[in-house]
Amino acid sequence: MKRLVSLCIVSVVSAAAFGGLSLLPAPREVVQRDGFFTAAEDADGVKASFSTDASIPKEGYRLVISQTGISVASSDPAGAFYARQTLRQLAEKAGEGWRYPCVEIVDHPQYSWRGVLLDEGRHFFGKETVRKLLDLMARYKFNVFHWHLTEDQGWRLEIPGYPKLTQCGAMRRRSPAHGATLKRGKERFSYASTEMTTEQYGPFFYTAADVREILAYAKERHIQVVPEIEMPGHAMSALGSYPEFACFPERIPAGAAADDWGIFPDVYCIGNDATIRFLEHVIDYVCELFPSPVIHIGGDECPRIRWEECPKCQARMKAEGLKKSGDLQAWLTRHMAERLAKKGRRVMGWDEILGGDVPKTAIGQSWRLGGREGAGTEHVSGADGAVKGYDMVMSPHVLTYYSNHQGLEEELFPRNGKGLSLEKAYTFDPASGVPEEARKHILGGQCCLWGEYLWNGYDLAWRMWPRAFAMSEILWSAPANRDFAEFSKRAAAERRRLIGMGISCGPMK
Ligand code: ACM
Ligand code: ZN
Repeated sequence: MKRLVSLCIVSVVSAAAFGGLSLLPAPREVVQRDGFFTAAEDADGVKASFSTDASIPKEGYRLVISQTGISVASSDPAGAFYARQTLRQLAEKAGEGWRYPCVEIVDHPQYSWRGVLLDEGRHFFGKETVRKLLDLMARYKFNVFHWHLTEDQGWRLEIPGYPKLTQCGAMRRRSPAHGATLKRGKERFSYASTEMTTEQYGPFFYTAADVREILAYAKERHIQVVPEIEMPGHAMSALGSYPEFACFPERIPAGAAADDWGIFPDVYCIGNDATIRFLEHVIDYVCELFPSPVIHIGGDECPRIRWEECPKCQARMKAEGLKKSGDLQAWLTRHMAERLAKKGRRVMGWDEILGGDVPKTAIGQSWRLGGREGAGTEHVSGADGAVKGYDMVMSPHVLTYYSNHQGLEEELFPRNGKGLSLEKAYTFDPASGVPEEARKHILGGQCCLWGEYLWNGYDLAWRMWPRAFAMSEILWSAPANRDFAEFSKRAAAERRRLIGMGISCGPMK
């Protein structure tokens, strides 16, 4: 009953007054009153009285602005932080000071996992861009920064004891040129860009001190940083540094990361104990550095063809009673899941990891909708993962890969992927197709910014906004209130504000 009442209030408000307030993501309940509170301070400095109210859901808040002052109640510090973010969107410059419209807002998130993935493997953006991204994530109430730190084309994290990862693996001898397109070759897993540069790219990487700086910055903004270390595929940067960790070292171009985009047949040799010790060392170190309760081990797009001809991998299969080469990936995932569990962490991986018998404590990230995407490996849909009892984070590529172009006639940047307009992005629903009883396993969703066709922070922001407004609303706001026409008005106003703040934004299309 209470729920029904609150939904009614929102729908009345969204039709009548919401456009005037222009908040993103839309709060659950808004009651607008006459008048303003005025103050000399902006939203970061303005005084507000804070109180604790245990009945308010996690990360939620109640914000009351009257002509005499501002009060905030929440059950946790994150809720108070999000009230402040709402205040920042409400603040209007008034002469020398600021004014805040009188309003009562009751708000809490729909999902606990509200993520953004940044791939720094293909292009390296660096700390300043990451800090800007975290600032904007906080503004729109995102709370997970999924930091994709290793890729075929670049290893971005310094690891004590393995200096070549950052001397060689963080560098490419050449790269696809701006404007080049990637073509598939005749052989399986062969790809080539139509034009390459001759310049060396990198080495670019983060030290432990850099990471600690970013972690502290994210923590102040109530953002959990979830690092991703890819295994067993997407590992050419590590194999270029240490070819002995591949099934056939002599086939690996040594001394650098892969120089073109694509999927590579060479992956870690799961039959080699030295490879496993290396991966354990990396994961142990990542656990020391990152406090995240969840560690992402990738697992997507891992061809099995080398394992099928590798004597060591075949011997591992025999010794462990594994029936098919794909079981080697499940064996590695279980191994890492157990190691992480001993440290009190949960393993997370792309939906491929659910193809094997991994413990139910694993978190799956759904990116494929079906077919033979992802090197033709086992497919477990997000809904199936949830039905099996896995907690899932939803990021289906057709709706959440914002590095894909927007489907416009004229593009500022080289096109990649299928067109994903703002309107289409807004149709994403993490719970879609998931039976009611399995919905408790849907932790939330993510937009993903893959780096092949993003060269710098300008490109990144241009692709991200305004589509990430849609994601913030999908993950935070009440689904019953979704209305693209009304959202578009608020998004257009907020986009203008971002442009005023010097942030590049794609079109409202
Ligand atoms: C992915 O897009 N390969 C996770
Ligand atoms: Zn092998």
